[in-house]
Amino acid sequence: MSERYCDIALRVNGEDVRERVEARKTLVDFLRDDLGLTGSHIGCEHGVCGACTVLVDGAAVRGCLMLAAQCDGAQIDTIEGIADSGAIADLQDAFIRRNALQCGFCTPGMLIGAQEILAGGGVPSRDAIREHLSGNYCRCTGYHAIVDAIESVARSRAGKEV
Ligand code: FES
Ligand code: FES
Repeated sequence: MSERYCDIALRVNGEDVRERVEARKTLVDFLRDDLGLTGSHIGCEHGVCGACTVLVDGAAVRGCLMLAAQCDGAQIDTIEGIADSGAIADLQDAFIRRNALQCGFCTPGMLIGAQEILAGGGVPSRDAIREHLSGNYCRCTGYHAIVDAIESVARSRAGKEV
């Protein structure tokens, strides 16, 4: 292994992955370029917009701020894995029903952020939802419909009237 490359072993969407990666390659570039998981988008590349959000060991992180080499031994979940598992089917439906997406560029990151806050259980306040997603930018929707969708799923999952 040269200084410019690292051998990493990790789990991505439940599958074991072993790869040799450039030491300075970001996690989102690794996912997109090496594994073909293009559901994680790249916007600002500076940790500002949230388009590249993925779960690393269950916590939402910016894939553009983390190096792939730092994920050696980690469990990564991308929007592809989370969607394919059916875990966010209700969120996806709610986003469509409530018009919470237009171009869709921010949507993978929004859904991962939404799933993270809903994993806490209960029905978070609209302010708490907004605060939780404050690092996920949307240029299209004005956010209101996104909060509506997430709130409706929180209420549904909690067995409350939507
Ligand atoms: S591309 Fe990572 S936060 Fe914008
Ligand atoms: S739907 Fe276009 S950026 Fe959010």
